[in-house]
Amino acid sequence: MSFDPNAHREASLRNWEEAASGWTRRQEMLRELGAPVSHWMLDAVSPQPGQRVLELAAGLGETGMLAAELVAPMGGVIISDQAEAMLEGARARAAALGLSNVEFQVLNAEWIDLPVASVDAVLCRWGYMLMADPATALRETRRVLRPGGGAALAVWDSIEHNPWALLPATELRERGLGAAPQPGAPGPFALADRQELAEMLERSGFSEVRVEDRELVRSHASFEELWDSTLDLSRVFHDAVLDRPAAEIEDIKSSLAERFVAYTMSDGTLQIPGRTLLASASA
Ligand SMILES: C[S@@+](CC[C@H](N)C(=O)[O-])C[C@H]1O[C@@H](n2cnc3c(N)ncnc32)[C@H](O)[C@@H]1O
Repeated sequence: MSFDPNAHREASLRNWEEAASGWTRRQEMLRELGAPVSHWMLDAVSPQPGQRVLELAAGLGETGMLAAELVAPMGGVIISDQAEAMLEGARARAAALGLSNVEFQVLNAEWIDLPVASVDAVLCRWGYMLMADPATALRETRRVLRPGGGAALAVWDSIEHNPWALLPATELRERGLGAAPQPGAPGPFALADRQELAEMLERSGFSEVRVEDRELVRSHASFEELWDSTLDLSRVFHDAVLDRPAAEIEDIKSSLAERFVAYTMSDGTLQIPGRTLLASASA
C-alpha cells in the first residue's frame, strides 16, 4: 500500500490530540531526558534578548520555554503544535513558570501561518520525522526565518540505537500486533540517515549545516514505571496492547520485562540507552 500523506496528517493529528494527557503525565521524565538536547539546540541558535523565536511541533513546549528566558524581557517565543491538547499542557506549564513572553499557536509545520522572514530562530525537537512531508516543513522553516537566522532540530537515530522503542516494537511485531514501518513513511526513526538529513536541509536552502549525534539514557524507577510510561507516550503501543484480552496483556508485559532485563540494575531501576541526531543550519 502506498503512503497517503493526507491520511497520515489526519491520523497524526488524532493520535497526538489523544496522546497529550499521557505526555502531560510524563512531563518530568521527558524534561529530564530532553534537557541536554534542548540545551544543544539553544546553544546552536543562541537566542539573544529581544529576539523572536518559533518552536515547531513543540508538544509541551519545553525547549521554547527555555528560549523564552533567554530572549526576555522584550523578545518572545511562539510555541506551536498541530495539536491543541498539547498546547493546553504547554500553557499550564508556562503559567506555572510565570512566563509572560510566550504565545501559543496551533499550526501544521508544513504550512506555517507566519510571514516571510518574521522570526530569528526556529527550534523543533523530535518533530520533523513525524511529518508527512518534512522537506516541505523545512522549506517553510527557512521561509519564516530572517536571513542569517538559525534553525536547530533533533530527530531520533535509527531504532537499533534506541532499545526503549526497539524492544516494545519487536514484542508487538513478533505477536503480529504491529507491522514494520513502511520505508519512506513518517515515523520516529524516519530521518535517521545523517547524510540524507544534511542534504534535505541544504536542498531546503539552508547553509552551514551541522549534524551530530548524542547518546541519551532513559531512566525508570522500575519496569512497572517503564510499562506505564510506554502506554502513556506511545499511541501505537497503547492501542495495540490495550485492545487485547487481559491474560494476553499480562503475557505481553512479562515477556517485555524479560527483554528489558539487560537494562535493569541490581536495585531494580532501568537505564535504557538511546541516541538522537542533532542538527543546526543557517537561513
Ligand atoms: C514526539 S512529540 C515531541 C514534542 C516536543 N517537541 C518534545 O520534544 O517533547 C511530537 C509532536 O509533534 C507534533 N507534530 C507532528 N506533526 C506535526 C506537524 N506536521 N505540524 C506540527 N506539529 C506536528 C505532534 O502533535 C507532537 O506534539
